[in-house]
Amino acid sequence: MVELDTLQPFFADKQELLDEILGRYPEYGRRSALMPLLWEVQRAERHINDARVEEIAEIVGVHPTEVRGVMSFYSTYHDHPVGRFHLQVCSTLSCSLAGSDELYDHLVEELGIVNGETDGDGYFSLQKVECVGSCTTAPVLQVNDTYYERLSKSRCRQLIASLREGELPEPWHARGGDADAKGGEEQ
Ligand code: FES
Repeated sequence: MVELDTLQPFFADKQELLDEILGRYPEYGRRSALMPLLWEVQRAERHINDARVEEIAEIVGVHPTEVRGVMSFYSTYHDHPVGRFHLQVCSTLSCSLAGSDELYDHLVEELGIVNGETDGDGYFSLQKVECVGSCTTAPVLQVNDTYYERLSKSRCRQLIASLREGELPEPWHARGGDADAKGGEEQ
């Protein structure tokens, strides 16, 4: 609980941003600002700790339990730090049929971490998520905010190599001649 006493409030020096977010909603709908406020913290700190939960609860006028309830419902929010590159493998039906299970296994092997884990350097974290809304381009891997679609194993390998160099490559949108993720390789 030392953290709660010593950590500067996240929005203390972001009054303009806070006003902009709260201004999107009428006063009686202040609690609607909950998710965008959570997102600002998540994006900046890669997780949302107890102090931030308390702060946001106070801003929107709800109990911290309600904030935690929202966080636990959406895979976007984390109560512990994720890696610099947070890899989210869609595991819902369309992606699963297109090979996302095999991609997940491949990532486990490559990165040495499993679902919900962050590596020792805080560089990569891995998470299975529900449908990310791009079913027609399955299988989809989301890295931070970027979608990598129609992902084959070979492209996945290229992607990981780029990330290891610190580079988030431009996403591709066409299958481009590679085979499927279920063991296929690019031609
Ligand atoms: S099932 Fe993966 S994006 Fe919808």
